[in-house]
Amino acid sequence: MIHRSRRQILLAGADDRALLLGWFGLISSSDYSHRTCDRCNPMPQFENDSDFKKAVLQCFEQDGWTVTPAPPNTIGYDIELIRDSECVAVQVRQQRAKVHAGQLEKFIDFLERPAAVKFTRGFIISASGFTPSVFTYMRTEEVVDVALGSFKDNAIFWEDGDIPFQPTKAQLTYIGVFTCKGGVGKTTISAHLAGAFALNGYDVVLIDLDRQSNLRKLLGDGVSIPGRRGGLGATITVLNHTDWREDDYPDTRVVICDCSPDYDANPEMFIEKFDYCLIPTTLNPLGINKNADVIRRTFAAIRRVNTNAELFVIVNNYHSDEARRNDVLNRILKTEFETLMADDPKCHYIDPETVAIRFSKQLLYWGYHIVENDKPQLAFREIGGRSLPRVDFLKLLDYLEDHTNIEAAKAQEAKSAVPANQ
Ligand SMILES: Nc1ncnc2c1ncn2[C@@H]1O[C@H](COP(=O)(O)OP(=O)(O)O)[C@@H](O)[C@H]1O
Ligand SMILES: [Mg+2]
Repeated sequence: MIHRSRRQILLAGADDRALLLGWFGLISSSDYSHRTCDRCNPMPQFENDSDFKKAVLQCFEQDGWTVTPAPPNTIGYDIELIRDSECVAVQVRQQRAKVHAGQLEKFIDFLERPAAVKFTRGFIISASGFTPSVFTYMRTEEVVDVALGSFKDNAIFWEDGDIPFQPTKAQLTYIGVFTCKGGVGKTTISAHLAGAFALNGYDVVLIDLDRQSNLRKLLGDGVSIPGRRGGLGATITVLNHTDWREDDYPDTRVVICDCSPDYDANPEMFIEKFDYCLIPTTLNPLGINKNADVIRRTFAAIRRVNTNAELFVIVNNYHSDEARRNDVLNRILKTEFETLMADDPKCHYIDPETVAIRFSKQLLYWGYHIVENDKPQLAFREIGGRSLPRVDFLKLLDYLEDHTNIEAAKAQEAKSAVPANQ
């Protein structure tokens, strides 16, 4: 049975530095040399999944594992490894995009199923690496029984949660969270998306554009999110729009604006700056047509002053255990949405099956700290060892990084920051 536990993961290593390290003593020091090409047949390129799988399989075989490919059409894993008392489920991923937090979560869910009880651990071997959110997920959810390996040059490079690089110079990205409707989660989403950015090492400024000033009430001047292994971490600074000067916050990478539902109450200079805008909505039968209309009005309002921003509709208050009803409601909303976005390729509907913000007690009672006179905080507290909001917002960030150039900008800066002799 696979457990998330309180133990720290021991892996250390990073993509480009090609650090080879063992994992839980599973890979003895003599095994490290087994990770190099001479122990595996050269197979520099993979025409298809099965070639890639074969190469990974051979690597494990060379390391003394008894290797059995999963029977055809097996869901959840691709290879079974047995050595000593270990029985490991291996998932191999040959995909163009990096493996993201949603894929890691699905693998963990698989490993926790009764059908996977024989597996003592799980490995994900990726041909394209992992997104930063995957490492954050590993750390924040304290996942210890899954190891992540990148397959490069016919060797497996075991990685931990190191975020591959820390950017040196900030490039500002403006994200608005806006809809013409109140009470659908703008403030909740603004704050916790900022939290996900901060977990991944970005400094964020949150600007409260709503006259109700809920963000200021909930987060005061801001919060700091601890970094990895006692590192500097990242800060979320909360400001009124009149206090925002780009030059005053040189380390800030992301500005998130929590908008007022009353369009005219939002200073246009902010709406003009949005690179991206998130539009929260809900899947409920009474609201479904009304919600489509709200989305239509929201798009139109933004487009009056900003034709460049990419707009993303995100479902909030999602009840993931209502598969059938969600499916029907999702189809209705999606169809309505598709007619809306026909003329605007920069409008996107995030399918809630991929990413949604689930209904959770943590988010419902976010703000209880005000009642208790406690310090400002996000609703990332764990219940039963897991924080649904934290996972959802990391997944949302992954999605945005996949569908925007937020990460590309970060990678470019990191590259330019690498000394020439490296
Ligand atoms: N995913 C969620 N699960 C549970 N409660 C939520 C969720 N999202 C928002 N809420 C609750 O709904 C209410 C309205 O959310 P809020 O973010 O203030 O909306 P808005 O800023 O659009 O007015 C708040 O009480 C919040 O705690
Ligand atoms: Mg609000």
